[in-house]
Amino acid sequence: MDSCTIVIFGASGDLTKRMLIPALFTLYKIKKLPEKFAILGVSRTVFSDTLYREKLTSDLSSKNFDQQELAEFLSHVYYQNIDTAQSADYKLIPTKLATIKQEQQVGDNILFYLSTPPVLYSTIVGDLVAVGLGEQKNCWRRFIIEKPFGYDLKTAQVLNEQLHGFLAEEQIYRIDHYLGKETVQNFLVFRFANSIFESSWNNKHIDYIEITSAESIGVENRGGYYDNAGAMRDMLQNHLLQTLAMVAMEPPTAMNASLMRDEITKVIQHLRPLSEEDLNTNLVLGQYLSSHIGGEQVLGYQEEKGVAENSRTETFLALKLNIDNERWQGVPFYLRIGKRLPARVAEITVHFKNTEYQLFKNAQHNTITLRIQPDEGILLGFSLKEPGSGFDTKKVSMDFHYDELEGVELLTAYERLLLDALNGDATLFTRSDTIEACWQFVQPIIDYKNNSPKVYGYAAGTWGPKEVTEMVERDGRTWRSPCKNLTAEEFCEL
Ligand code: BG6
Repeated sequence: MDSCTIVIFGASGDLTKRMLIPALFTLYKIKKLPEKFAILGVSRTVFSDTLYREKLTSDLSSKNFDQQELAEFLSHVYYQNIDTAQSADYKLIPTKLATIKQEQQVGDNILFYLSTPPVLYSTIVGDLVAVGLGEQKNCWRRFIIEKPFGYDLKTAQVLNEQLHGFLAEEQIYRIDHYLGKETVQNFLVFRFANSIFESSWNNKHIDYIEITSAESIGVENRGGYYDNAGAMRDMLQNHLLQTLAMVAMEPPTAMNASLMRDEITKVIQHLRPLSEEDLNTNLVLGQYLSSHIGGEQVLGYQEEKGVAENSRTETFLALKLNIDNERWQGVPFYLRIGKRLPARVAEITVHFKNTEYQLFKNAQHNTITLRIQPDEGILLGFSLKEPGSGFDTKKVSMDFHYDELEGVELLTAYERLLLDALNGDATLFTRSDTIEACWQFVQPIIDYKNNSPKVYGYAAGTWGPKEVTEMVERDGRTWRSPCKNLTAEEFCEL
């Protein structure tokens, strides 16, 4: 791998502390970083290199890392404070990089990571380019941009335009950490490498598909951000639509960034536009209310720090959508996302149709659950003869769990995506047209939310408002009730 410097904007922020530095340290430990590398943290707070290293050591103190190894890693880490809103300050960065280059022998390749408020994205990129840091003369310069990428279709288009004014699309890596999850990538292998699944992955055999991303935590200390985002911008527009695309896409002719992203984009472009009637009947918005969970009183959303009094922001969203193409015509997809639900679970459940001729009247349909997290794995549900006289049937299952694979440590999403960006592989990053297609699809929801739609309260620790159950029951279907163990469904520990 090429030697390089990783420059993190937002270096004193939460993501850097919780995700980026730990991910880079893991890559260092497993020898996946280039032999010669450096990390430069940039933000407004004043630190010297030494103080910043000390801050990171204390940030990581709860993780039980080997202190000797951590100190070695941190000897590659530097810090520069600038006011990112002041163009003049950006001159400090090439100067600092020159010192680092000399000390660490790293050459000119740079991976920038923008983990800042989104309003700063184009300013930062523009000012870096102005001091020559976008140029790729005998080196590469790549820019990872965190979500949210835009606030609606218009702002996403403007941001794309601004960035394209400074950089080539190939230099821009829009990160969606769901695509970095091993289990989400496995959807493609599971589907396209196994003829028994691929041959039935269509509307002839599938009745409906559920996609759930549930979290047991509330908004924690991100109330200010979340209150403007809501579940729609926080999870649906990005993670859920990307996940949906991985479940529904056609096979690319080869696994490369361009062909793979072509197929992802096509799925999003084939989503049936949401009509007013869809919004009234197939969209449910909810907000968690204070409740007791495990003997503990938890706050309602409106009592959380940073949340506006009487806020109508949704912390729960369920949506039924359709994909208008040959493979999926007539198969509804039910999506649900929420905070303060009974468990932290992300999974897809595919419900197959009953056999054409129903010899056994009470046989249950087949299901396949692809578990993203936790207890990562796959669960196949099928009917079996109930032992004894007669031909009663019962539903049983077969399961696979990733932790059964011996000697395999799954990379976390951030580890995987940072590694890909260092290798120049953009396959799992979102292209400009894809991001705009996602915004285009959700724009009617944004407009609808602007007209004070109904937002139903639900007690923290429950599966959302009752309207969510009604939405699928109306169609004669049900949601799975997932638990933290993949195979447990009916006896969920709350
Ligand atoms: C982030 C959202 O993108 O994804 C958070 O901003 C959410 O609100 C998180 O908690 C969920 O990610 P994961 O990997 O825990 O499912």
